[in-house]
Amino acid sequence: MLAIWKVKVNYLQTLAGTGKNPQFSWVIKADHYNVVQTAYEMKIIKQGEELPVYCSGKVYTEQSAHVIADSFRMESLTTYEVYIKVWDNWGEISQWSDPCIFISALLSEEEWCAPFISMETEKDKDISKGTYVRGCFYLDKPVKKAYMVSTALGLYHSYINGEKAGRDEMTPGWTVYRSRLLYQTYDVTDLVQEGENVWSAHLGAGWYKGKMGIDGVRNMGGKVTAFSGQLLIRYQDGTTKTVVTDRSWKGCDSPILFSEIYDGEIYDSRMEQEGWNQKGFDDSAWNYVRQVEQRTDILVPQDACKLREIFRIPAKEIFVTPEGDTIVDFGQNMAGWVHVSVDGKAGEKVVLNHFEVLDSHGNVYMDNLRTAKETLVYICNGKGKTVYRPAFTYQGFRYLKVAAYPGIVKKENFIAYAVSSDMEEIGSFSCSDVRINQLQHNIEWGLMSNFFDVPTDCPQRDERLGWTGDAQIFCRTAAYLRNVYPFFSKWLKDLAAEQSEEGAVSHVVPNVLAEPDKKVRQLEKEGFAAAGWADAAVIIPWTMYLMYGDTRIIEEQYESMKAWIDFMNNRAEDYIWEFPGQFGDWASLDAEEGSCQGATPVEMISTAYFAYSTNLFAKMAGAIGNTEDKKQYEKLKTLIIDSYRRHFIHGGHISARTQTAQIITLYFGLAEEKDRPGIVHDLLQLLEENGGHINTGFIGTPYFCHALSQNGCVNEAFELLMKEDFPSWLYQIKMGATTIWEHWDGIKPDGTMWSPGMNSFNHYAYGAIGEWLYRAVAGIEADEKNPGYKHIIFQPHTFGTLNGAAAHYESIYGTVRSAWSKEKETVFLTVEVPVNSTAEIVLEQGSILVDSPTQFNSEKGHLVAHVGSGIYQILYKKLS
Ligand code: BGC
Repeated sequence: MLAIWKVKVNYLQTLAGTGKNPQFSWVIKADHYNVVQTAYEMKIIKQGEELPVYCSGKVYTEQSAHVIADSFRMESLTTYEVYIKVWDNWGEISQWSDPCIFISALLSEEEWCAPFISMETEKDKDISKGTYVRGCFYLDKPVKKAYMVSTALGLYHSYINGEKAGRDEMTPGWTVYRSRLLYQTYDVTDLVQEGENVWSAHLGAGWYKGKMGIDGVRNMGGKVTAFSGQLLIRYQDGTTKTVVTDRSWKGCDSPILFSEIYDGEIYDSRMEQEGWNQKGFDDSAWNYVRQVEQRTDILVPQDACKLREIFRIPAKEIFVTPEGDTIVDFGQNMAGWVHVSVDGKAGEKVVLNHFEVLDSHGNVYMDNLRTAKETLVYICNGKGKTVYRPAFTYQGFRYLKVAAYPGIVKKENFIAYAVSSDMEEIGSFSCSDVRINQLQHNIEWGLMSNFFDVPTDCPQRDERLGWTGDAQIFCRTAAYLRNVYPFFSKWLKDLAAEQSEEGAVSHVVPNVLAEPDKKVRQLEKEGFAAAGWADAAVIIPWTMYLMYGDTRIIEEQYESMKAWIDFMNNRAEDYIWEFPGQFGDWASLDAEEGSCQGATPVEMISTAYFAYSTNLFAKMAGAIGNTEDKKQYEKLKTLIIDSYRRHFIHGGHISARTQTAQIITLYFGLAEEKDRPGIVHDLLQLLEENGGHINTGFIGTPYFCHALSQNGCVNEAFELLMKEDFPSWLYQIKMGATTIWEHWDGIKPDGTMWSPGMNSFNHYAYGAIGEWLYRAVAGIEADEKNPGYKHIIFQPHTFGTLNGAAAHYESIYGTVRSAWSKEKETVFLTVEVPVNSTAEIVLEQGSILVDSPTQFNSEKGHLVAHVGSGIYQILYKKLS
């Protein structure tokens, strides 16, 4: 049996809105071992038609990912079906696959002919209210297909004949609005009717116009909200019609009196106008819209990762605090909103304050939200039971304080919805220790809460920004859990858009830390170039390349990456790079009282990252065949490392006696081979001096366990992970965390909290340990010589108190799985290698093979087997 399991287009099973010829990949299932594709055939059909518009013929190749249909020419706003058939090395032929479906967007910017229309004027710049706009159009013939492309300045929901187009939330999302504004593409065939139709939109302020950033600056995108869209109608008789937003539309204020990202929403249901978005509504009291000037050459189709309600979480418990507040507990910290049902008299209010934790007395704790109000106010209209949910805001919360509610507060009236960028779940990890499983759960919820169109630091306080450093340290972990390629590929374009001409990378993307009118160029002078943060420009593309084997990301980000390396190089002296505005080993526990920067010298961190990023860039230059750059940047890397050694390593020891200093030197490969054992010894010594506890921050934490396990200290790495007294990963678990905390001491052992100025309970950064669970415990490791899991290195590590661990990862070739269980010294290991991939299985040092379907040989102190696709069950004894 040979079958195509899944066909994907740009890594998605369905895609609406691609402007460029996409890439295809497919997963093959077979019941033989060692299966390799020898040929494929691809056909692309316009949905509803018989004859293909593209047929590859039989192509003799092993390639089953990143396949481009070269001579295929897309047409705008068309639905295509892609079918694949394959041949393998066993002489088998598959059936044609089920189709994967995609819709093309507009193929050229000139096709966008819809004006932006608005009910607001510049006088409204300080107001974040909701507005409605509506227009009518007539279809005089039966419709075959109808497509909508739409976007907004601000946020929008759009409706046809009262039905919302698509399931997306907070569209058009958050980008560097002056350079890139996304638009969405929908098939709206089911929503339009022959005859009269009403098309409408509800608009809000969002990231575009509302207050954003630590300094609460408004109007980062602009001063008024506006909607723009066009419909392409294909009639059954083959003719077409285009409908656009224009000045024939009318509008008015909506019941949303106020709505902003941080502060919540005020909705007065007494202002509702029944049927406002449907036919037959009398809009004679509404005013005509205004046309707003807006560049359309910056419009870009959004193809994936739209924000959606992804989990429904019923209220778990209702209780009253010692201070007398009524609380709804959902049992899970998250980003999203609630749907609240209420039946109140006209003018009665529901007031809900969202928050994350209770204080040590069990009372409401909201100080860590800083100025963010996170409050929903719903004003009843007395017309019976209604369900309200906010439209243009979101909250980070586990609890609701019900500050006002007409009637009795009952669980069934409160349902939370976790909202996140919609990405396919592609991995899982579990083990025999329930605490680690809870940690894994928290990592996933940290991801879901903070992959909110951009990778944010946190979802609750007045920040929620695309902090580059946080995204950089977490991206590999995220990539094992969700299909993040489309998500990061979007955000990296914004990162490049915010880069200064000199190559400086802003701390947050989109950059709301700069005044809106300041030129990006000036950022450089203001010091927006922090080591470990700005390096997201290089490390994230590298990670995507490693996990997906896709060189597109290298090509797309090449200039951005190079500019960042050159920025550092141009400012380095003797290859030691220093620059104002560094964060150091942010939030580490070895900082001086009152400082967040940690004790590891910033010039050391900067230079270490300079070397690391340069090394990755040289490899990526090689991967796309730029041998000139490869050579040049390899040389640069060598010079940086030489200088690092001269400046920071003396007599085999690192001058800075911090955990982080040893960790980055080891993990980034900065020490001479002969010095490594001494540095590892120093790290163990520093660990011991700290009672076996971690005290690293954002820079050291992600690599701590790797630095140990890659240097012969697997047990020590496990022991560090298994610690459950403060500070440790499991300490948070013991304290009841359901997401990852920003600080090791968010809640201290004595019940007091870290300073409310910066104490998020939903920051994914320290969740970067997830990567170690996958790579070292389950042992699923990418091979940079054959990226994208074309070749897999399985090297699991077992540990005394753990009886088993299992992980799977849906790679572009299919399921990669590793699972082991252990009884005393006997380990039973199962690994799965997808069709069209190969692997090496590396047993732990000191292993004795008991039983295996495949041959193992001794290589560099390990037993190693080289295998093709299939499932392998291996029994071995681990003596040490
Ligand atoms: C954010 C962090 C970020 C840091 C940089 C904080 O306020 O929440 O996660 O990386 O600032 O200093």
